[in-house]
Amino acid sequence: MRKISVIGIGAGNPEHMTIQAINALNRADVLLIPLKGDEKAFLADARRDICARFLTNPACRILDYAVPVRNADGVYEDGVRDWHQAIAAIYERTLLNDLGEDETLGLLVWGDPMLYDSTLRIVDHVRAAGHVAFEMEVIPGITSVQALCAGHGIALNRIGLPVEITTGRRLAEGWPAATRDALVMLDGVQAFKTVQDPDAEIWWGAYLGTPHEILLSGRLADMAETIAQTRSRARAEHGWIMDTYLIRRPAADAEEDAA
Ligand SMILES: C[S@@+](CC[C@H](N)C(=O)[O-])C[C@H]1O[C@@H](n2cnc3c(N)ncnc32)[C@H](O)[C@@H]1O
Repeated sequence: MRKISVIGIGAGNPEHMTIQAINALNRADVLLIPLKGDEKAFLADARRDICARFLTNPACRILDYAVPVRNADGVYEDGVRDWHQAIAAIYERTLLNDLGEDETLGLLVWGDPMLYDSTLRIVDHVRAAGHVAFEMEVIPGITSVQALCAGHGIALNRIGLPVEITTGRRLAEGWPAATRDALVMLDGVQAFKTVQDPDAEIWWGAYLGTPHEILLSGRLADMAETIAQTRSRARAEHGWIMDTYLIRRPAADAEEDAA
């Protein structure tokens, strides 16, 4: 039977590749590389670097595909669903046209496939369409969250306290009610500026794991403007940016200090 291998490749440093991921890369008969936009050009290059460095299977075919553009007009959920269906159609065509019956298609997923990534949902669409039978395996990868915490040398959670992983768009709508600790991804609006707690602290990271990595941390009220300026300068210089950050507000009680 055909197989799809969804391989987490880490968040920017080729050395994030685990031995399990390298072995899965080398079991693939076809690898699909998505191409799209400036930021994605970097991501495509990073995938090629990983192949150049770790791929030892000379028979593996590397195929590019142009990622369809998501329709931003109309209802957001409809646009996302149509976009996923369009990518699912590309996976399906690849399985049918470019793979033999017992071959494996490798999908190289940024970071880890379980975190703010739709590859697994898109593979579900392919399965639901029912035009091609396949097995699937998932190989975990180092996430940008891990790279952020490692870069700053911090633990993600405080003792006994939850952390909410959310998006910049959601944070801009208001602080998450159930938690004092928020890990923010996909922030195109610099939502950290909307947090008005004078005692909040931030740990911010951009281009984590890459040669351009920037790490800044401190009291949010003191750092917000520095981060905003650093972010816009770096974005202008490189043409794209990916950043992630953790904000901690003082815990409501002293439970965190108990242990
Ligand atoms: C579509 S999500 C993909 C997350 C990915 N699956 C992971 O495990 O990290 C993209 C977001 O992840 C974060 N991100 C991914 N790679 C990053 C990096 N190298 N440096 C900083 N943030 C990164 C950013 O918040 C970015 O907007």
